[in-house]
Amino acid sequence: MDLPFEPYRVKVVERIQRVSREERVRFLQESGYNVFKIPSEAIYIDLLTDSGTSAMSDLQWAAMMSGDEAYACSKSFADFESTIKDIFGYKHVIPTHQGRAAEGLLFAVTLKPGFVVPNNIHFDTTRANVEYQQAIALDCIGEEGLDPTLEAPFKGDMSLDKLAAAFEKYGVDRIPFVMLTITNNSGGGQPVSMANARAVSEFCNEKGVPLIFDACRFAENAWFIQQREEGYADCSIQEISREMFALGAGCTMSAKKDALVNIGGFLCLNDEKWAQEATNLLLLREGFPTYGGLAGRDLAAVAQGLREVLDVDYLTYRIGQVARLGQRLDELGVPYLRPAGGHAIYVDARTALPHIPQSEFPAQVFTAALYLEGAVRGVEIGSLMFEHEDPDTGEKVHPAMELVRLAIPRRVYSHTQLEYVAQVCARVMEIGESLRGLEIVWEPPALRHFTASLRPAGGGKMVQTN
Ligand code: F0G
Repeated sequence: MDLPFEPYRVKVVERIQRVSREERVRFLQESGYNVFKIPSEAIYIDLLTDSGTSAMSDLQWAAMMSGDEAYACSKSFADFESTIKDIFGYKHVIPTHQGRAAEGLLFAVTLKPGFVVPNNIHFDTTRANVEYQQAIALDCIGEEGLDPTLEAPFKGDMSLDKLAAAFEKYGVDRIPFVMLTITNNSGGGQPVSMANARAVSEFCNEKGVPLIFDACRFAENAWFIQQREEGYADCSIQEISREMFALGAGCTMSAKKDALVNIGGFLCLNDEKWAQEATNLLLLREGFPTYGGLAGRDLAAVAQGLREVLDVDYLTYRIGQVARLGQRLDELGVPYLRPAGGHAIYVDARTALPHIPQSEFPAQVFTAALYLEGAVRGVEIGSLMFEHEDPDTGEKVHPAMELVRLAIPRRVYSHTQLEYVAQVCARVMEIGESLRGLEIVWEPPALRHFTASLRPAGGGKMVQTN
């Protein structure tokens, strides 16, 4: 049988329900066509994010019960720190309440106005945190990673040419470090090869700047290396992860992904001075250095989750489940960014809805239609999220791709539920031509996709019925 086998059985369940079409229409209108603002009880299958949505294991819940809530130097922190040092290998481990807090600390102590941070592709919070310091977040993704139809094994790889051009243009004094996001979430959950990470690391060494990983989905990235990169088939996920992290000098981590918890994060650094300054800020913003913004039980669950995520059977099942959804979409004629990512499928909305221009948010239209047709919640990764002004010309720049991410929570949904999702996607394709574009009615100054309100362009209904 060619199915991704679950290496666990269910011990606790949570009731979910389907809501009627009339209710879905109402929720969509009330939310301003923004699925972030729809109550979760009105969602049947929630693929908004794989972040903080994992089902924890029996051992994680047990670890939570025995969490040590001491303010300073708790047992749970000792376990957290030693587990992280064992996998990541960096000198300093700074707990934070989630990934963006780790980014915020790092950027606050390293960036000045006009500085530049190259990355393969910055995730939205990473970009926003860089820009908050009035620095420039520069994407240096390889050309392969920009072609949604190309089947290639490591489309998260960074372009060494673009990286070199950035150093040429801005100069090493304005680039305090280089980042590499594994897997590359905003470019389709695509992995970065060890060869590319090594080449980027060597380049950084030549320039004398550290390489920092955005490590949220490091175990999924390691699984792809084991499966796809020559010479790694016999290495364990732990060995591959250690080899990867040894190429850098630190990482930011959202434990809400590959540490299989609902909240948590950390910043790892080798540099003594940066670590000290980040810790000073941590005390101010997050908490004492042995808990960051977390309870002792949260630290305990992270440590246990990190041990579990290295299990190759789990990763084979998890990434296999995403790949299988991709296969079903192939069979049903739904275009998506190829190949399937580690944590998500990214529907290619420009191809799916070619009549809607980027200025009218085709990926947001597809996202709204998924809710309308099946109470499935995905997330737009397109112009609503990423349209920005060119730092040199001040002109509006649309992202290269208009994607709808269907992020699969870890250990949560069944095969049948994902089959339902595939069928709802096919239904949106069927009615595609009758869908109209959207326009913004209100937007906040930053990270607008979370709270913006939209309406069908020019008013009226989103689905044209005549
Ligand atoms: N970096 C990457 C690559 C991410 O995907 C995320 C979060 C973060 C940093 C920030 O971590 O949420 O713990 O503060 N991604 C979530 C997502 C929100 O839905 O992809 P955080």
